[in-house]
Amino acid sequence: MTRTRRTLPRQNVDLTFKYNLAHGRHGWLRLTPAYSVKLVNGILNTSDSGIAVLDPFSGSGTTPLSAAYRGDTGTGVEINPFLTWFARVKAAHYGASLLQQTRHRVDEIDARLSAGDVTPVERPPIRNVKRWWDDPELAFLCLLKAAIDETATESAECKNLLLVGFSRVLIRLSNAAFNHQSMSFKKRDDSQGLLFAHAPGLFWMFRTEMEFVLASAGDNPPGKAEILLGDSRWISSLVRRKHALLITSPPYPNRMSYIRELRPYMYWLGYLTNGREAGEIDWSAIGGTWGIATSRLGEWERPENGFWPKYLNKALDDIAKSDNRSGRLLSNYVAKYFYDMWIHLQGIANVMAAGGEVHYIVGNSSFYKVLVPVELLFRDMLHEAGFKNAQIAKIRKRGSKKELYEYDVTAWR
Ligand SMILES: C[S@@+](CC[C@H](N)C(=O)[O-])C[C@H]1O[C@@H](n2cnc3c(N)ncnc32)[C@H](O)[C@@H]1O
Repeated sequence: MTRTRRTLPRQNVDLTFKYNLAHGRHGWLRLTPAYSVKLVNGILNTSDSGIAVLDPFSGSGTTPLSAAYRGDTGTGVEINPFLTWFARVKAAHYGASLLQQTRHRVDEIDARLSAGDVTPVERPPIRNVKRWWDDPELAFLCLLKAAIDETATESAECKNLLLVGFSRVLIRLSNAAFNHQSMSFKKRDDSQGLLFAHAPGLFWMFRTEMEFVLASAGDNPPGKAEILLGDSRWISSLVRRKHALLITSPPYPNRMSYIRELRPYMYWLGYLTNGREAGEIDWSAIGGTWGIATSRLGEWERPENGFWPKYLNKALDDIAKSDNRSGRLLSNYVAKYFYDMWIHLQGIANVMAAGGEVHYIVGNSSFYKVLVPVELLFRDMLHEAGFKNAQIAKIRKRGSKKELYEYDVTAWR
């Protein structure tokens, strides 16, 4: 069945922790802005409810969770273990007694910290830890993490909720600023350190975050969301059922490293213990360029079995020629991105039901003024992978460069 595109209805969406890891300017904004929740809900609401919805790049779980709130069955696939954990915590159902138990644990942690009854955990092994946090905040976080580990021993769900509260606090106390294209460090303001040096003041921040987390955790979706840890290039070996709808915002070929942005959470929560591991995860992620991933890209050769239309080859050659030092590396980066996406899209054809609809929300990019027409490539790859009526809708302008846009590339199985 082939359907034509409809306009996406506007929606008001209540932002809860279920959509956000930390609020305001303190992080995780770009992956789950209110905008992307609205976009996903808008697309969902153009289909009948009670269907199977897939997001092969599910990140913090916006699509599967939004589907579950509508009474659908949402499935997400995510390669990053921390994001998989976080999305699973958001997707779980929480009963009143578990929430009450977690409230008691917050009081218990408060009492332990006030009594000085806690041995702090080691500082996280992230490089340049003092650049991320000033000493008083770091000392507090080591104590708080230890108190959570010691207190919440009997219930994994209770501990998970406390760790979400902890994650929100650790990013609020950090010197990282996430309000640019990429993360940077705020200029140090010494008065801030003094303001927060008193641990009870900091605990108040944790308590406030926990109230927010618990209030939203109790808002259980009627449907089910399942998040799988895995590589979407091999989706057919991960997902067995056929889906009626796919909505995803895959990585863009823009050199953004999710690992780089997520390092503070991942080191504190034990998902990373050294830089090499970070590079390994980024190498397996599509579009990753962090650490070891960059040096491997330099040696990567374009395989024959890719999808290499003339206009892509031309863009790749132009990028390679533009700059002696990194042109070839960036050309390889873009080529590998599309090679991986091509492998992925061929697999997607196996997990969509006949007539099933796919939406890839993608952004184009440019390197040395060479525009990479990402939306055309997705459209043409979907067509080549056996999808029908592949088409492109421009959604919005992206960033400050005038040629950069975000698109919804749609097609039907
Ligand atoms: C733009 S983000 C998705 C954001 C998501 N919509 C959300 O609500 O947070 C793209 C995600 O794709 C993941 N990813 C990259 N390569 C992957 C792969 N090969 N398989 C599965 N997930 C992958 C990244 O870790 C990242 O979380």
